[in-house]
Amino acid sequence: MSTGADRSWGVIAIDGPAASGKTTLARRLAEELGLAWLDTGAFYRAAALAVLRAGADFGDEEGAVEVVRPRVISQEGGRTLLDGEDVETEIRTPRVTEAASLVAVLPGVRRIMVRMQRRWVEERGGSAVVEGRDIGSVVFPDAPVKVFLTADSDERARRRLAELGDAPEASAVRESLSRRDRTDATRTASPMRRMPDAVEINTTTLSPDEAAGRVLALVRAARAAE
Ligand code: DC
Repeated sequence: MSTGADRSWGVIAIDGPAASGKTTLARRLAEELGLAWLDTGAFYRAAALAVLRAGADFGDEEGAVEVVRPRVISQEGGRTLLDGEDVETEIRTPRVTEAASLVAVLPGVRRIMVRMQRRWVEERGGSAVVEGRDIGSVVFPDAPVKVFLTADSDERARRRLAELGDAPEASAVRESLSRRDRTDATRTASPMRRMPDAVEINTTTLSPDEAAGRVLALVRAARAAE
């Protein structure tokens, strides 16, 4: 299999809950296949930051849509840009993390996000590794390879704790993860769910290399079946 840049891959959709290993996997795949990598969660985080900065109310969908609609959200070289400003560090703070799951329940905001994400991939020739919650179900339902990543909740909390530098309480991290999982999976607008044509991979005991190897095998099989 060629591992060089190939514009005919289409989208590799990686969905799953927080800290299931999506970003590690998506970045590896993108590198291996010479494709662009898009983290759609960062778009919701940037939208949430815009709403926070505007002092708008997350319960007022119209107000939030008014704030988000004129914004330009993008990703360049793994950095997230809000109207051209690099907000990559700010969108990873606990305050924005919690706000992102509130903004993500608003259908009007989701419609704007989906449009921006499709355009981003289109501008890169239509091929990319795209991670999120609704990629295989809503954003790119025709993606030739769809993966739904999972991992046990203890393992996900352990990974999130390892990422967070300032050693927060383990119980607070666990609570935050389960609250966000619940909001993401039970919201009416595009809830996180595994599509019937998505392959579920549980990464609890897999190394990043093993997880990437499994998806590369799926990519190879999808290419061979074309
Ligand atoms: O993956 P993440 O933690 O950066 O995502 C931030 C929030 O955005 C999270 O609450 C889930 C939501 N999200 C979503 O609803 N749809 C996506 N495609 C990506 C993220």
